[in-house]
Amino acid sequence: MVTVTCHASQQQLPTPRAGVPGAGGEWQREPEQGVGNLGAEERWSEGHRDGSADPPAVWAWVDPGGPVGSRTPGPQDGGMSLVADTSRPAVPRTAVVTGAGRGIGAGLAAGLAAAGYDVALLGRTRAHLDDVAARIQAAAATAALTSALTATPTAASTAAGAAPATARRGPHVVVVPVELTDAAAVREAASVVQDELGGVGLLVHNAGVIERAEVPFDQDDVEDTWRVIETNVRGPLLLTHALLPGMLAQGGGRIVNINSGAGHRGAGEYTGYGISKGALARMTTMLDTQYRDRGLRVFDLAPGVVRTDMTRGMPAHDARVAWTPIATVVELLVALADGGLDALAGRFVRAGMDTPASLAAHGAEIIAVDARRLRLVAWGASDPLVP
Ligand SMILES: NC(=O)c1ccc[n+]([C@@H]2O[C@H](COP(=O)([O-])OP(=O)(O)OC[C@H]3O[C@@H](n4cnc5c(N)ncnc54)[C@H](OP(=O)(O)O)[C@@H]3O)[C@@H](O)[C@H]2O)c1
Repeated sequence: MVTVTCHASQQQLPTPRAGVPGAGGEWQREPEQGVGNLGAEERWSEGHRDGSADPPAVWAWVDPGGPVGSRTPGPQDGGMSLVADTSRPAVPRTAVVTGAGRGIGAGLAAGLAAAGYDVALLGRTRAHLDDVAARIQAAAATAALTSALTATPTAASTAAGAAPATARRGPHVVVVPVELTDAAAVREAASVVQDELGGVGLLVHNAGVIERAEVPFDQDDVEDTWRVIETNVRGPLLLTHALLPGMLAQGGGRIVNINSGAGHRGAGEYTGYGISKGALARMTTMLDTQYRDRGLRVFDLAPGVVRTDMTRGMPAHDARVAWTPIATVVELLVALADGGLDALAGRFVRAGMDTPASLAAHGAEIIAVDARRLRLVAWGASDPLVP
């Protein structure tokens, strides 16, 4: 069965094209569900630009006979945007971020906290994690103070002479130092996280390393190649294995693997890094295949090229002047975390090139051709290896 959901008014729904696979289904109106924090009427007043008469609803294109990859109506048919699948999980607003003590992980953890997530910070070095936790708490305190100072007093608070209450408590931030390749240590860390957060809604596998030398494989130290593969693959496997039962028991959750274009192309150097990121992409599709029906949504998120300790140590980036801002990566992560792109689960997105809006606009196309996955490409319909 093919199901593609669209956010549209009824007259915007496209007519499926005759003679194409997947044209045998129909549009079915879905029960109302929130998109982010907005209901349908609010989305309408926020986003209505085309003069259509009725407010948008969530519509599902249901084709009982269509295999994944068959042609389904997309934005090119009617200017619609794909918003979500119809069964996305409602999970706690809590996040675990690995490698959160510096670099991209520190920025992602801070961005999630600012978006209202309680966060667990995992990494090897306690001092790095403590520093990030302190900065998150300071930012939350500043935001709360600003909110209190700028809030409009209510009649009741004015009468009582009280300062306006702040809208939201600060985030709960948990620091958990752990060596992510150590199975026993990871099980212990997962247990602490589970207890402290009371359930994990989002797991971000960000911790990662790259080879010390920028050389082809025959010139590299194979033990260093293996160190990279072990950190970048064993770490996510161990932590996922430890937290998955709890996530499934609560009805699902989301996993975001911080990946790289290096997993999808050949390169003259960093062999273990490329292998590890390719393996991570396959982990995404394996978990998506096995647990989507149980509420798990898994994504690969490539952060672009971000100025961090990792990239500072890579001669390939010595002359680089253009870097991906961490805010761009945070924007995409929060969109994934909040569920607005759940229909793209199992696939690869890239900060600095994709945005939540561009993915929403092209979502139906992406699903129609089953794009953004690691797989064999067939030479054509006669290829016996057609997936
Ligand atoms: N920077 C980029 O442009 C770029 C591009 C594509 C993909 N990525 C990916 O993004 C992720 C973060 O990269 P980054 O540039 O932010 O790297 P980074 O600045 O070098 O930070 C790496 C983080 O991973 C942690 N870590 C490494 N090995 C660990 C282990 N065995 N156990 C626990 N924690 C461990 C480190 O913890 P300590 O602080 O304790 O050492 C550190 O917090 C990586 O997966 C990387 O492959 C980065």
